[in-house]
Amino acid sequence: MEFSSNPTSLATTVKQRRQRLAQQIDFPIILWSGSPSPRNFPANLFPFRASSHFLYFAGLQLENAAIRLENGKLELFMDDPTPADTLWHEIPTRSDMAQKIGADAAYPMTELASHGSGAATIAVQDATTCQSQAQILSRPVTPVPQGIDLSLAKAIVSLRLYHDGAALSELRQGVAVTVKAHQAGMVATMQAESEAQVRGAIEAVFLAHNMSPAYGSIVTVHGEVLHNFKYHHALQPQDLLLVDAGAETANGWASDVTRTWPVKGKFSPTQRDLYDLVLTAHDACIAEVRPDVEYRDIHLLAASVIASGLVDLGILKGQPEDLVEMDAHALFFPHGVGHILGLDVHDMEDLGDLAGYAEGRQRSDRFGLGFLRLDRPLKPGMLVTIEPGFYQVPAILQDADNRAKYQEVVNWDRLAKFADVRGIRIEDDVLVTESGNEVLTSALPTSAERIEELVA
Ligand code: GLY
Ligand code: MN
Ligand code: MN
Repeated sequence: MEFSSNPTSLATTVKQRRQRLAQQIDFPIILWSGSPSPRNFPANLFPFRASSHFLYFAGLQLENAAIRLENGKLELFMDDPTPADTLWHEIPTRSDMAQKIGADAAYPMTELASHGSGAATIAVQDATTCQSQAQILSRPVTPVPQGIDLSLAKAIVSLRLYHDGAALSELRQGVAVTVKAHQAGMVATMQAESEAQVRGAIEAVFLAHNMSPAYGSIVTVHGEVLHNFKYHHALQPQDLLLVDAGAETANGWASDVTRTWPVKGKFSPTQRDLYDLVLTAHDACIAEVRPDVEYRDIHLLAASVIASGLVDLGILKGQPEDLVEMDAHALFFPHGVGHILGLDVHDMEDLGDLAGYAEGRQRSDRFGLGFLRLDRPLKPGMLVTIEPGFYQVPAILQDADNRAKYQEVVNWDRLAKFADVRGIRIEDDVLVTESGNEVLTSALPTSAERIEELVA
């Protein structure tokens, strides 16, 4: 079936992206959206999220669909709902969707089998769809792309790394709701008895805007567990609450924000010392975000500010540059200073380090660099997080090898005075602009005083 073009702004946006892809690729491409996974019977499904590569070029969260691109022409493959489907679910029709995404033609899914020859693709996450990818293309489809799939992946990375106007508009909407949600979380904390209640206040804001969490929200008094997805702890008066939560827009664009606040609205002196140190690192890093700066150098700047501040607080001993050289900062700041952000929170990490690392670069196995997810020069249009932190992770600080290696540079008695800090992270979403940067999340305060005011 052929469709006349009826460009809407969505259709125009995704068409421009497809045209830019076509300039780099001279073979057919098929991108699958994926299928929802059943919980216990076929109609009781886990929430569906389309593959981000599909979303980037199709723009809509279509289930069990695929797009085929060749020579600038787009074909949509998806099934129309049957009367039995429509009794239970609201499912869009193929012709409506084809019009919305600016397809040149649309077919039922069964027709895809005869269109697979010679096409490149990117593996989707759900195993059922991944099997159909291999079947239709008559070859293995591996999570790490190879051959023409690798060429396609590189071309997609070259587009998705630098956000266009439509992407930025979506990202700004997600950020605005995320800021409101964090504020609601701060306001709810004094009356809350558990992490779960604060999480409820935050995610209620996402849901009320028809958005969802872009990743498992982290709302924890155990911030030393870096990705803690449990919410059962009671809030104690002396606790710091670490909240890492970001909204995803209905079309799939993510935000990623962390604030850490005192449960009773007032940092203790030791909490305040370490909070101000993390904030100093955060501010120093953001000041360096501009075109052509190496993101790795921003990470090393965070390491050096943290090492230097810990020396000032008497926790580390030595010269900050020597401490960074021996990765002593990583005892307390064991992750990278951030990552790229877009349709996914760690954008394009389904492709391994293909997006995060410039061609020819590889991850270091150093303690202080192994979790650095981004090692590229910054360019206008990139959206990155800046998220330094300080943590007391028992598995790191009590590890016998670490104790031996860092025995002389850590003042363990002094560190014990800071026992009321388990984890602090401050994370903002920073757009690289032609002249420097724009902190998209700047409406959410970071200073200790403003945080205390909001909570209290
Ligand atoms: N929310 C995950 C991260 O900050 O990377
Ligand atoms: Mn992040
Ligand atoms: Mn985060």
